[in-house]
Amino acid sequence: MEVTSLLAIACSLVLTACGQSPTFSRTSSRDGRCIYSFTVPSPAEESCSEPGEALRAVRELQRERAAQRGELVAMEQRLRLLEGRLAGREDASVAAGEEGKLRAEKADLLRRLEAAEQENARLRDSHCPGHRDSAQDSQHVARGGRQDFFNVPSRKRAQSGREASKWNFESTGYQELKSEIITEIPASKLASRSESGGTSQNPAGCGMLEWVGEPVTFQKADSIVGRYGVWMKDPEPVPPHSREHIWRINTVGTDIRRLYEYQDLDQFMKGHTSKVYMLPEPVESTGATVYRGSLYYQKRKSRTLLRFEMKSETILVRKDLANAGYRGVFPYSWGGYTDIDFAVDELGLWVIYSTSQAYGAIVISKLDPNTLEVEQTWATAIRKRAVANSFIICGVLYTINSYSNQNAVINFAYNTNTNSSKALAIQFENRYRYNSMVDYNPAEKKILAWDNFNMVMYDIKLSKM
Ligand SMILES: *[C@@H]1O[C@H](CO)[C@@H](O)[C@H](O)[C@H]1NC(C)=O
Repeated sequence: MEVTSLLAIACSLVLTACGQSPTFSRTSSRDGRCIYSFTVPSPAEESCSEPGEALRAVRELQRERAAQRGELVAMEQRLRLLEGRLAGREDASVAAGEEGKLRAEKADLLRRLEAAEQENARLRDSHCPGHRDSAQDSQHVARGGRQDFFNVPSRKRAQSGREASKWNFESTGYQELKSEIITEIPASKLASRSESGGTSQNPAGCGMLEWVGEPVTFQKADSIVGRYGVWMKDPEPVPPHSREHIWRINTVGTDIRRLYEYQDLDQFMKGHTSKVYMLPEPVESTGATVYRGSLYYQKRKSRTLLRFEMKSETILVRKDLANAGYRGVFPYSWGGYTDIDFAVDELGLWVIYSTSQAYGAIVISKLDPNTLEVEQTWATAIRKRAVANSFIICGVLYTINSYSNQNAVINFAYNTNTNSSKALAIQFENRYRYNSMVDYNPAEKKILAWDNFNMVMYDIKLSKM
């Protein structure tokens, strides 16, 4: 999409909301990167009566809030039922455990709902302030009732900024609005300066991503704790596990410790677990992965990376990821504390995150899978909060522009072999409109994802090198 038509979309939003023009600027940093800044006053949602991308995104926010309210009602019903069972003392101990869990989930949900409501009120109450003061300000989001819609920070600016930790607004719908507009701009602009992704040493079967198929659904979670989650296969299993085994973690809740194991895809589809591990430390969000017999995951409310060996059922390594944002400082656009995301590809184990030094741009580190030591680190120019998810294939990071749009696209590639980025527009379907986890599996050469209770898999095609 051309910049001009994007401006038109943004204008329809802004003019409707406030009768003001957005500002758009392009500057070049010393290292030759382009910086696009796109700022509009915050819209009041009721004012958006024009059709277009912006309106759809605002509706998305409303839908999300409605869904959260629905979850709350359902939870309250279950709590009442449980309270009844407790009073009747039929199976009191089971019900008591379940009740504690439900109460914790409800508290979490209430907090999220409240944050969404506050953001909403803030949007409604904002009085459409004037244009921003200078291009210097353009890096920052959510200040004084304004939003920056697009920005690729240069490394230079990244070092000077310290405001990243203030990015704490929760409105998922509003973030979505951001990302959908963001992702279209560079497609026409950044492509001209991108390099083709040549790599020096390529493992067999490697190439650049060219195509992603339709999602195929293998399982659907049957309770609210499975709205978000992660499911995994080990590309390099060690005995007693094989390539057939599947693992799953439901990640809604405050004390997530259950890792479910399935013998094979058939058992997985039937919902027959072969084993349940109780993890010594609780899991944060959907960034976990399984590799060489260990589950790698982020410890809840920390930047601590854990390696849990399944055979011994112990945590073999704990390592803090230096400077990594966590607990909602640099999540993907859907939120959910997706600050730290493990990935596995043909080259090994990676972690995708951000730091305030990188100013919220995606940072990729290659990890030693035995020790979790960082071997090498790359700073990209892709803002983490602006993308819905990311994964790595053959040392190339790919980002997705939306977690909820059924016609999403894979919009950027960052090649760690050449340190270059490239705009893309590869179709990616979020069939169930809330994709909370997307991981590549190098043994299957497929993408596994968790889309709104549904565990899905995508075929892919890589170019021949
Ligand atoms: C790419 O960046 C990494 C990390 O900063 C650096 O070690 C490497 O030499 C760079 N490679 C190229 C090809 O520029």
